Amino acid sequence: MQLRLVTLEEGKNPTFNSIRITNQSKGNFPMRLLGFMLLFLCIGVGFSIINMFKIRYLGTQNISQGAHTLIQSCSQDPNSLQDWIEPPSTYMHTLDDNELFWRASFVPQIKDYPFKRSPKIAFMFLTRGPLPMAPLWEKFFKGNEELYSIYVHTMPTYRANYSSSSVFYKKHIPSQVVEWGMMNMCDAERRLLANALLDISNEWFVLLSEACIPLQSFNVIYSYISRSEFSFMGAFDEPGPYGRGRYDANMLPEITIDQWRKGSQWFEANRKLAIDIIKDLKYYPKFERFCRPDCYVDEHYFPTMLTIQSPNLLANRTLTYVDWSRGGAHPATFGKDDMSAEFFRKIQQDHTCSYNSQPTSVCFLFARKFAPNALDLLLQNSTQFFGY
Ligand SMILES: *[C@@H]1O[C@H](CO)[C@@H](O)[C@H](O)[C@H]1NC(C)=O
Ligand SMILES: *[C@@H]1O[C@H](CO)[C@@H](O)[C@H](O)[C@H]1NC(C)=O
Ligand SMILES: *[C@@H]1O[C@H](CO)[C@@H](O)[C@H](O)[C@H]1NC(C)=O
Repeated sequence: MQLRLVTLEEGKNPTFNSIRITNQSKGNFPMRLLGFMLLFLCIGVGFSIINMFKIRYLGTQNISQGAHTLIQSCSQDPNSLQDWIEPPSTYMHTLDDNELFWRASFVPQIKDYPFKRSPKIAFMFLTRGPLPMAPLWEKFFKGNEELYSIYVHTMPTYRANYSSSSVFYKKHIPSQVVEWGMMNMCDAERRLLANALLDISNEWFVLLSEACIPLQSFNVIYSYISRSEFSFMGAFDEPGPYGRGRYDANMLPEITIDQWRKGSQWFEANRKLAIDIIKDLKYYPKFERFCRPDCYVDEHYFPTMLTIQSPNLLANRTLTYVDWSRGGAHPATFGKDDMSAEFFRKIQQDHTCSYNSQPTSVCFLFARKFAPNALDLLLQNSTQFFGY
C-alpha cells in the first residue's frame, strides 16, 4: 500500500510540471501534446505497477488455486476413451422420454469393442415404491458387482430410503405414473430399458416386479442368460377371448391376426431387442389406440412387435414362474405358509421346456408373487432353497 501511494505521487508530479510548462508557452502545440502523452504514459505505468503489486500481495492465493485447478483438469485427460464408455455418474437426469429414447438408441456400427468389456445383466424393477424382497436380492447379488446393474422405477411420488451400503442405493430412475393395463405401463418399461441402455456394458435386460424373487444363484442365472441363443420373451398365439379375442382389425396393415401374440409382461431381452423396443414408432401408435382394457397392452405389445420383427431371436417363453391355477384376474400370491424346499423344488425342476433347442427341466430363474411375510423364511433358507 505504501509503495503504491509513492508511485502515484511520483507519477503525478512530473505531469503537473509539464502541464504548467505547456500552459506557460501558449500556442506551442507540440509541447502541449507531449505533456498529454506524458500524462497518459505516467498514469498507465502507475496502474501497471499498482496491478503488479495487487497481484503479488493480494491475489497470489487465488491465482495459484486457479492454476492448480487447471492443471488438475488437464491431467484427467478429457478426451480419453474412458470418457466415452463410462456410464452416467448418476441415474438422475432431466431428459423427457423423447430425448431419453433418442439418446438410448445410439448403436455402435463397429461390432468389436476396442476395450475389455464385462457384459452385465441389467435388473430392472418396475414397482409402486418399496421393495419388500430387497434383503433377499442383496444376498443374491453379493460378490457379483462386476456383472450386474440395477434400475428401479417407482411411482413418481415415492421417495426411496436405502442406506448407502444397499445395492438399491441411488438406483432409482426418473419415473412417471403407471396404471395397470395401460400404455403408460409399457412406457415405464421402455424408460427402464432406455436408462439401462445408457450404460454400454449392459447386455441383457430383465424386467422384474417387487413381488419377484431369484430362484437360482447369481452364477447360474448369469450363465443361463448369457449363453442362451434366444431372449426370454413370452410369446404365444392363443385362440379364444383372452388371446386373439383382444386383437382389433384397426391394427391392420401393421399387425395381422396371425402375428398377434400374448405373453407374460416379465421378460428378458438382449441389447438388440431392447433397442428395438425403445426405438419403435411403427407399432406403438396402433397399440396405444387399439389395445385398451380389456386388451392388456403389456401382455401383447412387445411379444407381437418382436415376433413380427425378430421371431428367430425369441425363446417365446418367460423366465418368471407364476401360478394362475387358482383362477381369477390375478395370479396366486405365496406367503410364509407356502415356503418349503418341496415347493421350490417343484418350480425349479418339475417342468419341461427347451433351452438352446435342447429339452431341459430348468425353465424358471425367477418367480412371483411373494408376500412380504415370506421374506424371513426365504432369508433363513436361501442357501438350501436357491443356493445363495
Ligand atoms: C480469493 O479466494 C478467496 C478464498 O478462496 C475468496 O474468498 C475470494 O473471493 C477470492 N478473491 C477473488 C478476487 O477471487
Ligand atoms: C428411512 O430410513 C431410516 C433408517 O433406516 C428410518 O429410520 C426412517 O424411518 C426411514 N424413513 C422413511 C420415510 O421410510
Ligand atoms: C418363437 O416363435 C417364432 C414364431 O412366432 C418362431 O419363428 C421361433 O422359431 C420360435 N422360437 C423358438 C426358439 O422356437
